[in-house]
Amino acid sequence: MDEAVAAFWARAAETYETEVPYFRLMGERIVGRAGLRAGQDVLDVACGKGATLIPAARAVGDRGRAVGVDIVAEMVDAARAAAAGAGLRNVTVEVGDGDALDLDTASFDVVICGFGLGFLRPEHALPEMRRVLRGGGHLVTSVPLGGGADWEFFGDLCKRYGLVSEAHVGGAATPPFDEMAKLAASAGLFLDPPLPESVSVLFPDEESWWRWAWSHGQRAFLERLDDSQVEVFKEDAFAALRSFRTPDGIPLEQQFLVLNANT
Ligand SMILES: C[S@@+](CC[C@H](N)C(=O)[O-])C[C@H]1O[C@@H](n2cnc3c(N)ncnc32)[C@H](O)[C@@H]1O
Repeated sequence: MDEAVAAFWARAAETYETEVPYFRLMGERIVGRAGLRAGQDVLDVACGKGATLIPAARAVGDRGRAVGVDIVAEMVDAARAAAAGAGLRNVTVEVGDGDALDLDTASFDVVICGFGLGFLRPEHALPEMRRVLRGGGHLVTSVPLGGGADWEFFGDLCKRYGLVSEAHVGGAATPPFDEMAKLAASAGLFLDPPLPESVSVLFPDEESWWRWAWSHGQRAFLERLDDSQVEVFKEDAFAALRSFRTPDGIPLEQQFLVLNANT
């Protein structure tokens, strides 16, 4: 586990997924691609507030079991509350490290890791995921792509403000597909071709987007702005957002890949 990454997510946890449904929308899609069946045991590594855990628990039903693990206690509390709120009794969630799972070998049919691998150490996490999978089981994970041409402004601004030249913790990059395929194969997990997906998000206004930007991985860039830079960065970002906002709000078509890896 990377302490700086864990501390980053502890800072982001309070507002994570509170502004607009984002990870929840993508989580439904990821689970839709996971091929879960009633009665299966599913593990969600880096489960956050339950974006994939909750739909996975529904998919495996009362005879199945959904276990969530996250390094941040606040995320775990929120995932437990989401499961209770959804009336799910087949869910357990624990604080734990995805790089060193405190779980029995060969105890799950499916492991899900939605937008989590980039924050784990894949050379540790992938063998751990393989270890807890039963023979014939599979891993379903996902990696973010962009939001299309309109949204390139954020990366451009980060470059202009010198925020991407150094390593940053929250937005730790997921390895490129080929590298990931090699790492997975050496762990005994064999990737299928990636499945492209996208979801639509609508921010009511620029301030909503700004709060959202601080609530997830993008926060890692913003935290590196000093006090004098932050307001100017915000103004620059808002100018870019106004160039494509619609009467209904600011649309984001988030592209991502779902990856399935077989044992
Ligand atoms: C982008 S969020 C994804 C959360 C969730 N899967 C979702 O789709 O909403 C990344 C998550 O990784 C968790 N995380 C970071 N390092 C971890 C580690 N070593 N072990 C377990 N979870 C970790 C963070 O606390 C955070 O909840």
